[in-house]
Amino acid sequence: MRLLVLGTGRMAATHARHFAAIEGVTLDGAVDTNAANLAAFAAEHGIAERFASLDDALAWGEFDAVTNVTPDAIHHDTTLAAIAAGKHVFCEKPLATTWPLAMEMVEAAEASGLINMVNMTYRNVAELHKARELIAAGAIGTVKHIEASYLQGWVAANNWADPSIEGPWLWRLSKGHGSNGTLGDIGIHILDFATFATGTSIASMNCRLQTFRKVEGDRMGEYVLDANDSFIISAEFDNGAIGVIHSSRWASGHTNDQRLRVWGEKGGLELSHGHWGSLLRICVGDDIKTGTFREVAADPVPTNYQRFAEAVRAGIQTEPSFRHAAGLQRILDLALVADHDRAEHRL
Ligand SMILES: NC(=O)c1ccc[n+]([C@@H]2O[C@H](COP(=O)([O-])OP(=O)(O)OC[C@H]3O[C@@H](n4cnc5c(N)ncnc54)[C@H](O)[C@@H]3O)[C@@H](O)[C@H]2O)c1
Repeated sequence: MRLLVLGTGRMAATHARHFAAIEGVTLDGAVDTNAANLAAFAAEHGIAERFASLDDALAWGEFDAVTNVTPDAIHHDTTLAAIAAGKHVFCEKPLATTWPLAMEMVEAAEASGLINMVNMTYRNVAELHKARELIAAGAIGTVKHIEASYLQGWVAANNWADPSIEGPWLWRLSKGHGSNGTLGDIGIHILDFATFATGTSIASMNCRLQTFRKVEGDRMGEYVLDANDSFIISAEFDNGAIGVIHSSRWASGHTNDQRLRVWGEKGGLELSHGHWGSLLRICVGDDIKTGTFREVAADPVPTNYQRFAEAVRAGIQTEPSFRHAAGLQRILDLALVADHDRAEHRL
């Protein structure tokens, strides 16, 4: 697979590292509207063909697939252009900034027959797949209660009075720059994490969003700092279980931590993941009486990068697809409505 890297910022380095390590995958070109990012990235990863726009790269055309690592608001138009040119697309999350835009991408991708995939990163966590397998096999019985959190502390850790701060941070804090805040950035991950592990989907939900002051006037230059910092979703799932899913960027002490706790009629299961690693524990049988959790090991799973490369090689579509990511986007859109209305909504 000859790959074009579209967007050469912070996350692109992770894509380049993973894709370059896969046999049969080459990084053939890179695109960025920011010349400094492009030059540094292409030099670091030994990429010869460099372009200031996707249109220029498409005119060249010597690649099979695009990995789209641009900011959220850019995914839609660029992905549609790549599909129209017959290129497979691995797109960063969230797929788009709204559900209708995400559905346009689903329809274009499915009509084209090209491979489409979204980088729901935590599908790379072996323990997540093991949790799903255990729950599907009935290890904890019918799921009744779910608690999931995704905690980051970078808003608390950065000095927002420093005028040099920009890079990957400011667009994430600004609705006008296409960000749905914490909800769109990491809420989508924890929604996928919780529903994938439990094999459920959200049937109805309420949501509260909150944006906290970072600088006087809530503005830094062209960036109005109005995107949400924290959210709480209370949900009912399609099997009748209820649960809480929440997230914050003000969670000091947490660089990037996900936790899922699930209780069923026959036991409980806890999954934690962070840069430190992963821990899956289960409490079933006699251990329920003593409140004892036991660690469960998980076999390695292929990464999203490996599964995308394999899907392109074999010509067989795989998950998480654009359609799956659009379904998550629908929940995010509804969360905004629920917050606005201060009312529960059904999907
Ligand atoms: N899956 C994950 O775990 C994960 C983690 C981090 C970021 N992300 C996602 O990755 C994407 C990029 O995030 P990031 O942190 O790398 O942001 P970033 O700001 O560091 O990088 C984005 C890059 O895209 C470039 N760009 C902007 N518009 C462009 C255009 N029209 N054409 C080409 N390049 C363009 C920017 O100049 C910048 O270099 C976002 O969608 C983000 O949500 C996903």
